[in-house]
Amino acid sequence: MLDAVTTRHVFAVDDPDVNPYRLLTALVVPRPIAWVSTLSGDGVLNLAPHSFFTVASNRPPVVQFTSVGVKDTLRNVLATGEFVVNLASLPQMDAVNRTSAPYDADVDEAAAVGVAMEPSEQVAPPRVAEAPASIECVLHSTIEVGTCTLVLGRVVAVTVRDEALVDGSPAMAGLQPVSRLGGAEWGLPPEVVTLERPLQPPS
Ligand SMILES: Cc1cc2nc3c(=O)[nH]c(=O)nc-3n(C[C@H](O)[C@H](O)[C@H](O)COP(=O)(O)O)c2cc1C
Repeated sequence: MLDAVTTRHVFAVDDPDVNPYRLLTALVVPRPIAWVSTLSGDGVLNLAPHSFFTVASNRPPVVQFTSVGVKDTLRNVLATGEFVVNLASLPQMDAVNRTSAPYDADVDEAAAVGVAMEPSEQVAPPRVAEAPASIECVLHSTIEVGTCTLVLGRVVAVTVRDEALVDGSPAMAGLQPVSRLGGAEWGLPPEVVTLERPLQPPS
């Protein structure tokens, strides 16, 4: 019997017909969504999703999102030094998407979309009241990479709604995180399996 032949397409990233944004965002999936709340220097609330988002460090606790180009969120963080990452959860998925519209800087997206906010614990930007969890940050540093700016935030407080906790720890059943895939595709909360990590290499 002949082995099945598999072929691969090679994408040359410097080929003008290749769009690295489309290609990489279709491959680095699923991406969690930081629904970032900030205040402008004049106190205007801003709320926008960012899926270039991850944990950058655990000690000190630092999270990171990337602004693709210069947007209100980035301007606000640079002006005030604070931001809140609100977890994007299934019940708010449509609102998360609607806050990504290109509103003018003087428009409060939360009010425009009808998202209730409430005071945070340690920072001035409020958190999304219905979000199951929020991560409050003060600006640690920024790193410019071409047209993008990586924003690193030192975590100063974390809140989790009681119904998203099981035995005191955040649990997927209550968090129901949605994610961003390629193009206009989103991921629904994933099926969860438990896999213990090997403590030693197999003998
Ligand atoms: C699910 C989702 C994820 C997004 N992720 C990013 C991202 O990581 N970085 C970015 O610059 N824009 C991202 N965007 C687009 C911004 O949300 C959009 O440009 C928004 O208008 C920025 O708002 P602002 O100008 O108020 O900061 C994303 C949009 C959606 C819907």
